[in-house]
Amino acid sequence: MKHDRIHFGADYNPEQWPREVWPEDIRLMREAGVTAVTLGIFSWASVEPEPGRHDFSWLDEVMDLLGEAGIAVSLATGTASPPTWFSRLHPETLPVNRDGVRLSPGSRQHYCPSSPVYREAAAGLAALFAKRYGTHPALALWHVGNEYGCHVRECYCEVSTEDFRAWLRARYGDLDTLNDAWSTTFWSQRVSDWADVLPPRTAPTFRNPAQELDFRRFSSDALLACYRAEREVLRELTPGVPITTNLMGMWEAVADYPSWAPELDVVALDLYPEPKDPAAHVDAAFFHDQMRSLGGGRPHLMMETATSAISYRPPNRPKRAGLNRLWSHQAVARGADGVMYFQWRASAGGAEKFHSAVVSHGGSDNRIFRETAALGAELAGLRDVAGTRVPAEVALVFDYANWWSLELDARPAELRIPERVRAHYLPLWRENVTVDVVTPEADLSGYRLVVVPNLYLCTDEAAANLRRHVEGGGHLLMSFFSGIADACDRIRLGGYPGAFRDLLGLRVEEFWPLSGGETARLDTGRQADLWADHIVPEGAEVLARYVDGPLAGEPAVTRHAFGAGTATYLGTRPDERAMRELVRDTLRRAGVRPVAFGLPEGVEAVRRGDRLFLLNHNDHPVLAAGTELAPLGVAVLKEGR
Ligand code: GAL
Ligand code: ZN
Repeated sequence: MKHDRIHFGADYNPEQWPREVWPEDIRLMREAGVTAVTLGIFSWASVEPEPGRHDFSWLDEVMDLLGEAGIAVSLATGTASPPTWFSRLHPETLPVNRDGVRLSPGSRQHYCPSSPVYREAAAGLAALFAKRYGTHPALALWHVGNEYGCHVRECYCEVSTEDFRAWLRARYGDLDTLNDAWSTTFWSQRVSDWADVLPPRTAPTFRNPAQELDFRRFSSDALLACYRAEREVLRELTPGVPITTNLMGMWEAVADYPSWAPELDVVALDLYPEPKDPAAHVDAAFFHDQMRSLGGGRPHLMMETATSAISYRPPNRPKRAGLNRLWSHQAVARGADGVMYFQWRASAGGAEKFHSAVVSHGGSDNRIFRETAALGAELAGLRDVAGTRVPAEVALVFDYANWWSLELDARPAELRIPERVRAHYLPLWRENVTVDVVTPEADLSGYRLVVVPNLYLCTDEAAANLRRHVEGGGHLLMSFFSGIADACDRIRLGGYPGAFRDLLGLRVEEFWPLSGGETARLDTGRQADLWADHIVPEGAEVLARYVDGPLAGEPAVTRHAFGAGTATYLGTRPDERAMRELVRDTLRRAGVRPVAFGLPEGVEAVRRGDRLFLLNHNDHPVLAAGTELAPLGVAVLKEGR
């Protein structure tokens, strides 16, 4: 899809409707300012109703209708949900869960990611699409599969087991290396034959953490291989057409997205912030930052979001008037060149019939359609924002292997990456500081400050990278339980945190998790909870100490001058106010300037290209940077006005 406008549109599923409805769809699309649709995501059974018998006639017609209306098509390859006959003929392609239960068809995504039968059939279907529509004037983008791993992110069947073994052979070469990587001398888990290497199926108690971690890595790669199989075919047959699949903005570690991103011509995001959640917009901001960063700063697409209610989180609260507009502008502000909805027309039947759409069950004479159409017109006016960049001076480190391993069993405390990342992101968001979301190994040279929430698992490369950043004059803010384990989840021996002792100028002797609402007061007048490192400074200056709790008198927060920069370390979880003060102080030290100063609470400011976006997330009007904003109001100002 060309970055010559802010695209506006929806998933379009015309196969759910009789032909008579299609011209009406097109008419309403024009009325709503639709510039693009994603077509055919669940169309496999409609284009191949029986094995080998194809019927593209309906799709031909729809493609032509859209083309004539000047609506760009992101055309799906239809492979996200195999037809019933496929599962009947190839039952071995159905995925098996951890307990050994083979899942049935009857919903969607019922395929084993490692299945060569599924992969081949999917690539074959993609080829048919490519041959038929590759030169169609409406075709703008290939949409491969759909939300890989949304429901089935791993499979424990025999085929997957064999594939896992092959993946491990490629990673470790031989069994000795594998045994070493998996620390199998513990609990007598040593393997002497590849046939004994298994996926982490349901077992009496805690499974081997390195095995679990590798299985997550492998499963991400297996899903990616499905995407690649189709992409290869499409690339060969239609070299000029960009290709993507939709990633998900949610707090689940579905797949290692940084390894996927280079394979996507444009990063596409599905985002369903919960209208009931008062902090939903902060999470949404984070996911936009993540997707923009995955594309190396290139604009992303918000491929799916809801005009109003979301059907899978009852009670299904609608978005109140103005909320869709606000959140759609947030997407554009943070780098999206497209706002698209699931779906165009609300389904009359099926599992998601209560999910909001652009055209509701009652048609178009209603608030949702009117608001959506008004937004379409408004986004058309932001044409020259398309393709522009969102600058950021702060990077937040986010790593999937760390996420997977940190949340495994038998850690000193139950730490959750979503909570940990939010705790670091929120104060930055509140200060109106734009953040890129990066891997620990990423090039950090453009950033003044790097924020590292709880990087428990840390590769040697990451450790060297963060160290280099500070040495060269960058600043760092890191939270407890970082740099503890290597890439195989083995402890870095010789004193915690093995990867960062010299960088932080300290040693952690013991972990003192605080449990069940237990808190510790700090000598700054603030409080902390969840965790307390017993810190022994080795050059670091102490910024805060515990007044009470298990470590009364000991350091809680430290700072170390290292090379030309500084490394600030939080040995605990400070309360929200303390966290904000610390972040503010670190930003000042790093010389990071917010996008705008002195804005009222709840107003988000983002700079993109030559525009300043002001987004009022409050239910009351505010005056922000000299601009009046209505409740849930938006202003897009030209810089230097
Ligand atoms: C997405 C999916 C869509 C639709 C939507 C609303 O996860 O890609 O097909 O299901 O959620 O629930
Ligand atoms: Zn399988």
